[in-house]
Amino acid sequence: PTIYAITPTYSRPVQKAELTRLANTFRQVAQLHWILVEDAASRSELVSSFLARAGLPSTHLHVPTPRRYKRPGLPRATEQRNAGLAWLRQRHQHQRAQPGVLFFADDDNTYSLELFQEMRTTRKVSVWPVGLVGGRRYERPLVENGKVVGWYTGWRADRPFAIDMAGFAVSLQVILSNPKAVFKRHGSQPGMQESDFLKQITTVEELEPKANNCTKVLVWHTRTEKVNLANEPKYHLDTVKIEV
Ligand code: UGA
Ligand code: MN
Repeated sequence: PTIYAITPTYSRPVQKAELTRLANTFRQVAQLHWILVEDAASRSELVSSFLARAGLPSTHLHVPTPRRYKRPGLPRATEQRNAGLAWLRQRHQHQRAQPGVLFFADDDNTYSLELFQEMRTTRKVSVWPVGLVGGRRYERPLVENGKVVGWYTGWRADRPFAIDMAGFAVSLQVILSNPKAVFKRHGSQPGMQESDFLKQITTVEELEPKANNCTKVLVWHTRTEKVNLANEPKYHLDTVKIEV
C-alpha cells in the first residue's frame, strides 16, 4: 500500500529546516505520497520550490486557519488536515480498490524509518507509542492479548483515545467508507482532536497495536525551540538575496 502522509505546515523562520528534515526521512520510505498543506491563503514560493526539489511524490495544498482560531489553547491545523482528507477522498472516489494507509505527520516530529514498516500493514486503524509527549518520556496504548485495553499517559487520562496525532494510522478504505469523518472545531477541547476524530471511524477494541505490542517508541513528539532573532537587522543589510 501507498503511505499518504498529511503534513500541516505554516510560515515561520524554522519552516524550511523542519521540512528539510522531514523530506530527508520521507525520501527513504518506499511508496510514500506527501500531502503538504500550508496554513496560508495561497501556496508559498518557499514551499513550492522546496517540493519541486524534494524528490518525492507530493501534493501541495493550502487553506488558511480563520483568524479567530489562531489563539493559544485552541487546536492547530484542523482545516489543513481536513483539506488533506478531502483531497484523498476526491482522488479515490472512482477507484476504491487501491490499498493505502494515511498518517498525520506534523512537520516538527521525529520519525524512524521502522515506523513506516509498521504502519504499512494497517488493516483499519493501527496505534503505537509516541515519545516525549503528555509530560512523560512516552505515552502508549496498553495491550493485553493483542488488544488495546487502556492507555499509559500522564495527561488527561479521560480521553477516549489518549493518543497524540503521531500515534496512529488509518487505512484508506476506512477513510473512504467514513466520508463524513473530519476534524472538528466545534466543541473540540485541547488534546481532544485525536479522540474526536478516531471516535468517528473506530473503537478502542478494534485498534491494531503495532511496534511489538506498543512496546517500542518509533516516533517522537519533538518540538523545535523558538529561534532567537534578536540580532536580526530591522532593514535588509545583506548585499545579495539569500534563500533561507
Ligand atoms: C500537538 C499535537 O502533536 C498536534 O498534532 C496538534 O495539532 C497540536 O498539539 C494542537 O494543539 O492542535 P504541538 O507540537 O503542540 O502538537 O503543535 P505544532 O507542532 O505547533 O502544530 C501541529 C502541526 O500544525 C504542525 O505540523 C504545524 O506546522 C501545524 N500548524 C501549527 C499550522 O499549520 N498552523 C499553525 O498556526 C500552527
Ligand atoms: Mn509539534
